Amino acid sequence: MQIVHTKAQLRVLLKQARKIGQSVGFVPTMGYLHAGHASLIHRARQENDVVVVSVFVNPTQFGPNEDLDAYPRDPDKDMALMRAEGTDIAFFPSADDIYPAGYATYVTVEGPMTQALCGRSRPGHFRGVTTVVSKLFHLTTPDRAYFGQKDAQQVAVIRQMVSDLDFDVQIVACPIVREPDGLALSSRNTYLSEKQRAQASGISRALFEAREMILAGQRDATLMTDHIKKRITAIDSAAVDYVSIVDARTLADLDTLIGEVLIAVAVKMGRTRLIDNIRVEV
Ligand code: PAF
Repeated sequence: MQIVHTKAQLRVLLKQARKIGQSVGFVPTMGYLHAGHASLIHRARQENDVVVVSVFVNPTQFGPNEDLDAYPRDPDKDMALMRAEGTDIAFFPSADDIYPAGYATYVTVEGPMTQALCGRSRPGHFRGVTTVVSKLFHLTTPDRAYFGQKDAQQVAVIRQMVSDLDFDVQIVACPIVREPDGLALSSRNTYLSEKQRAQASGISRALFEAREMILAGQRDATLMTDHIKKRITAIDSAAVDYVSIVDARTLADLDTLIGEVLIAVAVKMGRTRLIDNIRVEV
């Protein structure tokens, strides 16, 4: 595995790969890698000649009162996981390399897709994501880029950006990886106290239960939303940020459950904000 810290070094390596016709798979991350990231790298390894993984805690996607400084970091552990999954190039850029002095260009997907769900409580978040992902796509020019379905809204927003801006890259969304008790893997799970961690499995339980109700014939989105909210509110240390039932592709609100349905939730456990979702084909 080659470890590079600058855009210039990355470009040299990828130019060489392109010259001999190799395909490139790209996994953008913010580090503190876990089995969810491993599954993305694993898939990229299966489908491409060269696998690039970036680790960059992107400041522009954090709000002023969010956890940018506290965001967990462990580059040595990240490199071990990347090696184990067969990464060819590990890219660890600095904030100054990505956003040099005088940086002034941002990429925004407008409209409800970025304003709903997480966009409501994290204004500016998706602008930061689409800006950094555009830059990373320009630097890596991947054939395929791999994202976790846990961030379902992020996947939808990036697909929209790729389509609107004619990026020549295939977006591959990979299934959510869960702990044995159902909690979706997230680097932020590390913030949870023992009690919060034990209770956090109630979030996915509420989603699994909702899926069963829909599969059994329930089609009323308001009724389902209220039911999930009730289940999550019953968890001692949990506060609902949102429960939304939307079209999985457009993220538009649904009244009646039909088509590819996404049930997405954000929940605060103490100061930790967790997201999770489930898709149901109706
Ligand atoms: O999903 C993430 O870890 C980040 O949002 C991403 C895509 C690496 C952009 O910073």
